Amino acid sequence: MKTIEVTASRSYQVLIGSGLLSALGREVKKLCKASKVAIVSDSIVFPLYGERAASSLREAGFEVIDFVFPAGEESKNGRVYLELLNFLAENHITRSDCLIALGGGVVGDLTGFAAATFLRGIDFIQVPTTLLAAVDSSVGGKTAIDLPAGKNLCGAFYQPKLVLCDTDALNTLPEDIFRDGCAEVIKYGILYDPALFAHLTQFGLAFHREDVIARCVELKRDVVMEDEFDTGARMKLNLGHTIGHGVEAQSHFSISHGKAVAIGMAIVARAAQRQKLCTAETKEQIVALIQQFGLPTETEYDAESLYKSALSDKKRAGGTVNLIVPIAIGNCILYPIEVTKLQSFIQEGL
Ligand code: GLY
Repeated sequence: MKTIEVTASRSYQVLIGSGLLSALGREVKKLCKASKVAIVSDSIVFPLYGERAASSLREAGFEVIDFVFPAGEESKNGRVYLELLNFLAENHITRSDCLIALGGGVVGDLTGFAAATFLRGIDFIQVPTTLLAAVDSSVGGKTAIDLPAGKNLCGAFYQPKLVLCDTDALNTLPEDIFRDGCAEVIKYGILYDPALFAHLTQFGLAFHREDVIARCVELKRDVVMEDEFDTGARMKLNLGHTIGHGVEAQSHFSISHGKAVAIGMAIVARAAQRQKLCTAETKEQIVALIQQFGLPTETEYDAESLYKSALSDKKRAGGTVNLIVPIAIGNCILYPIEVTKLQSFIQEGL
């Protein structure tokens, strides 16, 4: 097992290892005075892991209730959020009680936002069950729901009390969803860590899960500790995301987040090489690694459509969009680009 300490507006540990779900009750007991805990999960994850989580919590002396909603991004909305708050109120969850987010990014974001706002803030624990949630969304305190106008437009920075990642949960992930998380893992290698990039290149999908998840969490921890509220260094985590957001939006979200980010990273790498910001070798290494993981690097959408969708991304600041651009493997820069030049930048990367 690996333990990573995060010190932000709240300090907490990220525990990563095989079989940890059965230790959930014991770990929560160390941290929370709660008498009652509410497991929040979705219709795919709860049947797989809900009972194991609940019995571990019951063995530790907690009264356990559960709120399960239909799996999928469509559930990350105001209606389900209010249903969850009403459920917590009707079940007399108090300020000293605790929520457990058992699932992927949707579950974590929604539960975190409910925890941030119910009774003006109660404790919550992240138990990520997807690779994407393990390496990214469960750590760092971004919580949100989607609005009809866009993803994650309503949210709060609210750190969990603990992140407990049982790597065994990845064994039941459909391969496609596992690959989605791999796009975020590749992102950390490109952004910060040539050794991680080399490990992924050597082992492909057979990479060492516990070590790689721990390394990604360490890298994210360092960024969150430097810039918890996303005003500078943390923006780099958006490598591939602005153009990826355009791909997701153009496909009406039929292209998943990880695949869209993979396409976004490839477009940025190709454009960066054409603008002589990085070498052809760097661009080729990035595109080849994305392809090695079975992720896409091309899109059917044209530069104008991607540009229009990318403009609605919430990372836009006035007349400028902050792109993240690779200079070399492990070294990326914040690259503010005028909105008027964004379409031609995308065109160069197609
Ligand atoms: N997922 C990007 C961040 O946490 O900042």
